[in-house]
Amino acid sequence: MSDVSLPSPPEARTAAVIPAAGRGVRLGPGAPKALRALNGTPMLIHAVRAMAASRAVSLVVVVAPPDGAAEVKTLLDAHALPDRTDFVVVPGGDSRQESVKYGLDALPPGIDIVLVHDAARPLVPVDTVDAVIEAVRDGAPAVVPALPLADTVKEVEPAAVAGEVEPVVATPERARLRAVQTPQGFDRETLLRAHETVTDDVTDDASMVEQLGVRVVVVPGHEEAFKVTRPLDLVLAEAVLARRRLNDGF
Ligand code: CTP
Ligand code: MG
Repeated sequence: MSDVSLPSPPEARTAAVIPAAGRGVRLGPGAPKALRALNGTPMLIHAVRAMAASRAVSLVVVVAPPDGAAEVKTLLDAHALPDRTDFVVVPGGDSRQESVKYGLDALPPGIDIVLVHDAARPLVPVDTVDAVIEAVRDGAPAVVPALPLADTVKEVEPAAVAGEVEPVVATPERARLRAVQTPQGFDRETLLRAHETVTDDVTDDASMVEQLGVRVVVVPGHEEAFKVTRPLDLVLAEAVLARRRLNDGF
């Protein structure tokens, strides 16, 4: 009898790189976003726990704010984390892309699958993490979790001056669009090649792999994997945590 809950091959080793070096400008003044608390625990710790919750993840590389690596190490030591997972902290860079690259540079040999997960998505459920890993194990070189859109999306000619009207250029068919989340999962060699080759500014790692001409596939994302970007997102994140605490009580 085969155990369908165990992805194969089990010997593939997985690491998660967590870019956490951003300032969080859109969240407003305060500490770097990843270090802000959600229900008393730093967002970064929630994100680290979300990755370490997957039994497949043996290493978590945290990319800290450039001047905050020591503080992040102290935080990791101060919070309960699974014993089966190793943790490494490296300083980040000026862009997300650069921060991810520094995280990849810290990967030891023997890692076959790499997840890249935003610290700003602290509440992604472990089932989503496992679904991404499983799709990579099943042979996809690049996997992104994503959801259909609620809003209709317009392409515009961006205004030169903020506040001016913007002409609509096109309305892509909503049913064909997906909002992309993290963790994005990759065959290690493919992701390294993407980061060595692509120099354009991008907002996610999968788009670098797309530029190599390598096929990227989507698996279902999760509502709770939303990105904490603006102040209202903090309210939503704390509400999700409160709901989880209630449900755990039963
Ligand atoms: N990130 C990073 N290094 C940077 C910029 C961003 O590691 N130089 C990380 C952030 O810490 C975050 C993830 O990339 O976990 C996604 O970025 P975003 O949500 O844009 O976070 P910030 O850049 O911090 O926020 P903002 O753009 O509002 O300043
Ligand atoms: Mg940013």
